[in-house]
Amino acid sequence: MKDNVLMIKDLTIHYSKKSNAFSKGSEGKICAVNHVNLTIGRNEIHGLVGESGSGKSTLGRSIIGLSPVSFGEILFCTKYGKTIDLVHDKTNNLAIQMIFQDSNSSLNPNMKVKTILSEPIVINHILHKRDVPERLLELMDMVGLAPEYLERYPHQLSGGQRQRVAIARAMATNPELIIADEPTSALDVSVQAQILNLLLDIKKKNGVSMLFISHNLAVVRHISDYVSVMSKGDIVETGETLGLFNNPQHEYTKRLWRAIPQFQ
Ligand SMILES: Nc1ncnc2c1ncn2[C@@H]1O[C@H](COP(=O)(O)OP(=O)(O)OP(=O)(O)O)[C@@H](O)[C@H]1O
Ligand SMILES: [Mg+2]
Repeated sequence: MKDNVLMIKDLTIHYSKKSNAFSKGSEGKICAVNHVNLTIGRNEIHGLVGESGSGKSTLGRSIIGLSPVSFGEILFCTKYGKTIDLVHDKTNNLAIQMIFQDSNSSLNPNMKVKTILSEPIVINHILHKRDVPERLLELMDMVGLAPEYLERYPHQLSGGQRQRVAIARAMATNPELIIADEPTSALDVSVQAQILNLLLDIKKKNGVSMLFISHNLAVVRHISDYVSVMSKGDIVETGETLGLFNNPQHEYTKRLWRAIPQFQ
């Protein structure tokens, strides 16, 4: 049987819709995620694609407790064989980390890189203080940044370098699962490829699993082992990456693929 790191069952997420001057009388609920099932295997990169507004970020954020779950289960299975119910257990789970699209707003502009990286280690008592400097060098090496960048502030880095710092910070707590929401969408194409290859390398060397959210099909095809396709709050199709790209079954997936010239 497949060794899973995450099992989402029948997940439903509603947002309340408040009426305003433009939408008078349309108060009610938006169903952003509608009875979704999703399983992520250990050491797997699971791509999540779908058009804007289909619920990808809402689903990803629900795993770290940032979306209001109305119904369903999110089960995290640790490598030690423990199962944690993430909908009800609100303790800060260091084994799950998130990388966001915009490293400009996700990194504190007033902190040097060394503080950004040591903070999660120190606050969560992961290492003794005397062992932190060595760990910082290890993290910088992991993401391909020279040690002197530890003394820089985020605004003194390029977009790609900032995203490397965000990845190093996510790795600081030795996570088992990373939720990456459009982590390369704000970067130049050449830098995108470097960051994707870095994530692949980190997965291989550290055995971390990932939910990789993107609207860029070429990027998802490059990095993912499995892919799920989301449309209007539903996952309409899931499969191994090559099979799904070569032989999509669902009409919506076929339409998505057709929108990209090389997939026609
Ligand atoms: N905090 C919120 N309050 C109310 N509605 C929200 C909120 N966040 C998202 N939504 C709505 O939920 C639906 C799903 O949004 P979500 O951001 O999850 O989509 P997405 O697939 O990530 O889109 P994109 O590709 O543009 O990032 C949309 O209709 C959106 O307007
Ligand atoms: Mg999104």
